[in-house]
Amino acid sequence: MSLHLGSIVPNFTAQSTKGTIQFHSWIGDSWAFFFSHPADFTPVCTTEMGRTAQLSDEFAARNVKPIGLSTDSLQDHDKWIGDVNDTQNTTLNFPIIADREMMIAELFGMIHSGESTKQTVRSVFIIDPNKKIRLTMTYPMNVGRNFDEILRVIDALQLADKHTIATPADWVPGEQVIIPLSVSDEKAKEKFPQGIETIRPYLRTTTV
Ligand code: BEZ
Repeated sequence: MSLHLGSIVPNFTAQSTKGTIQFHSWIGDSWAFFFSHPADFTPVCTTEMGRTAQLSDEFAARNVKPIGLSTDSLQDHDKWIGDVNDTQNTTLNFPIIADREMMIAELFGMIHSGESTKQTVRSVFIIDPNKKIRLTMTYPMNVGRNFDEILRVIDALQLADKHTIATPADWVPGEQVIIPLSVSDEKAKEKFPQGIETIRPYLRTTTV
C-alpha cells in the first residue's frame, strides 16, 4: 500500500510509552504529527525529541498531538526520555511507539534500505482530524528536522482549510495568501471583501 496525500492514514495498534495506542482513536478530533527517528540514545534524535517536547504548547495551540516512533524497545524509550529531559531542558510528555517488529515502519515506508534495514529514517506525517494524510516529509539519518517548518506547514494547512486559500513560497503567518484558481473573480470578491490584488489573472493575493 502506498500512502499518498489525501489518503486515510492506516489504523494500527501499537505499544507506546503512554500505553497501548489505537491510532485512529488516539488521534480523535485532533491533528497528529507522527514522526519516526532512527534510534534512541543518538545525538540528532535527542535534539529532535527535545525540540518536540519544548514546542508542546505550540502543538497544543494548533490542536496537534505529536507521536514518535522507532524500532527500539519501550524500556529504551523510557530510559532515553530521562536523558532527553536532562539534556534538552524539557519534559517529554508525548507517546513514543516501540515498533520492535517494524510492522508500522514497513507500513508507512519508514525503512529505507539504502540508509538502514533496521532503523527508521526521519519520516513525518501530518494527519488531520478526518485521519487524512496532509503532508509527508522524509529526512535522512544525519539531518535533524526544522521544527519551524513543521509548525509553518501546519499553520498553512489549517489556514487553507479555514479560508479556501493557498500559501505562496516561504509564506509565514500574517503574510499575503493566494486565491486558488478554483475560485472565480466574482466569488473571490464576495469571499474576500477586504480586497484582492490581481498581479496576473492567475495570480491573485489577499489577506485573511
Ligand atoms: C543521530 O540521531 O544522531 C543519528 C541516528 C542514526 C544515524 C545517524 C545519526
